[in-house]
Order: sequence, then structure tokens, then C-alpha cells
Amino acid sequence: MRILITGANRGLGLEFVRQYLNRGEEVIATFRKQNNILELEKLKNRFGYALTLIPMDISSSESRNKAFLAMKSKFSHLDILINNAGMVSNRELKFGDLAKDDIIEVFKVNSISAVLVAEQFNQLFKKNSKIINISSGMGSISMRENISNYSYCASKAALNMFTKLMSNALQERGIIVIPMHPGWVKTRMGTQSAPIEQKDSISGMIGVIDSLTLKESGKFFDWQGNELPW
Ligand SMILES: NC(=O)c1ccc[n+]([C@@H]2O[C@H](COP(=O)([O-])OP(=O)(O)OC[C@H]3O[C@@H](n4cnc5c(N)ncnc54)[C@H](OP(=O)(O)O)[C@@H]3O)[C@@H](O)[C@H]2O)c1
Repeated sequence: MRILITGANRGLGLEFVRQYLNRGEEVIATFRKQNNILELEKLKNRFGYALTLIPMDISSSESRNKAFLAMKSKFSHLDILINNAGMVSNRELKFGDLAKDDIIEVFKVNSISAVLVAEQFNQLFKKNSKIINISSGMGSISMRENISNYSYCASKAALNMFTKLMSNALQERGIIVIPMHPGWVKTRMGTQSAPIEQKDSISGMIGVIDSLTLKESGKFFDWQGNELPW
């Protein structure tokens, strides 16, 4: 299988790359900063042709387009796209302290760019290709009880809606599209207080992705395969 992963230089993206390579898949890892890819370069030395590294800042249309052209010149199709790249605002966004520019930036990366990446790579999907948008339980409106992180929670809720619309649009072509919650995982974003190890979250998600059929398209799952409420 051929799998493209965004934000693949660290955190969950990098662990997706490791685990897919270890089981013999062909991986395209995208990253936004050339000076930030030491771990990917080590994997490239070890796995050679099985790993292709392509720069892509998902929030830049020029960069998305360049990445697509680089992809298309080498590969005829994609089996899985994992829209993993994401961000939180450095500021804790609460009512009474909302910052428009921070909110726009978070929406741009977490919601809008993920969909635009999928759209950019659209012609490489075929029947049974899978688009996995890495969302968050924090994007579930019915599960929300906190009062902070406005931009992150709302951006993931918007990503869920975009994902549902995409799943409807791509159903006829037999393309499976879901949002997925990785759990609360130890990464720079998740912090070291998180209870879940990267390797467990990723092996769980890979198991869920393996088992997906068109019947599950448009549903919201966590890393253990539980269906989540919107
Ligand atoms: N960790 C958790 O507990 C948790 C829980 C729920 C959901 N998630 C979601 O899981 C995904 C991965 O998170 P993580 O925990 O691995 O976070 P992380 O360690 O902070 O990694 C985020 C990744 O996204 C990349 N990125 C950010 N903005 C980008 C852009 N404009 N273009 C391209 N790449 C960009 C980063 O690249 P740079 O290195 O260049 O910054 C980095 O590779 C995110 O979508 C996150 O929302 C995580």
C-alpha cells in the first residue's frame, strides 16, 4: 500500500511513518521545514526507496501544489492519505480573551488545509482509497464540557463537518473518508502528562484504518475503533 502522511517529521505523524515502514508499506512523508527532519532522514537511510520525503506546508496553496506535482511525477495513485498535521494556539483561548488572528491561524491549519490537501490530491484516489483526517475528541460538540481552547475545539469540529461532506461527495467513487481521534497521546502537543504512548495510539489507529470499509465512511472513530458522537 502507498500511504501519504502530513506533518510527518515528529509526534504522531512520525510514528505513523515508522510503523507503516516497519510492516513493509510504501510511505510518502511530508513536512514543512527542511531543517526539522532528522528522524525522517534516519528512516530514509534505513528504508531507502520505500520512503519518499516531500516538503509541504499544508497551509500554503503553492506548497500543496508543488507537493502534488512531485507526487504525481512519481506515483500513479494513493491508497491512504493521513491528514495528520495540526496545531494548537500558544495562547489558552478563553471567552473574554479571544484573539482573532490566533483563531484564524488554527482554523486555517486544522480545518481548511486538511480538506484542501485532500482536494489537491483528489485525482490520485481510486476505489477503496482511504482519507483519514486526524481530528480530536475535543472536536466533538456533544462531548465538550471544558471552557478553554476555543480555536482548537472549534477547528476540529469544523474538520469533522468537512470530513462528513467529503465522505458524502466521494461515496460514489468508493472512497472511504473518516475523522479519527488518536486519544490523548504523549507528543509535543499532547504533553508528557498524556496517558497514551505514541506507539499504542498509532498501532490502534492503523488497525482501525485496515478494517475500514465503505460502510464506515463518514463515521467518527477513536484509536480503539469506538464510534464517537459528533
Ligand atoms: N497528541 C494528542 O494528544 C492529540 C490528541 C488529539 C488529536 N491530536 C491531533 O493529532 C495530530 C498530530 O498531533 P501531534 O500530537 O503529533 O502534534 P505535534 O507533535 O505538535 O506535531 C504536529 C505536526 O504537525 C505539523 N504541522 C503543523 N502545522 C503545519 C503546517 N502548516 N504544515 C505542515 N505541517 C504542519 C508539525 O510540523 P513542525 O514540526 O514543522 O511544526 C508537526 O509535524 C494533530 O492533528 C493533532 O491535532 C493529537
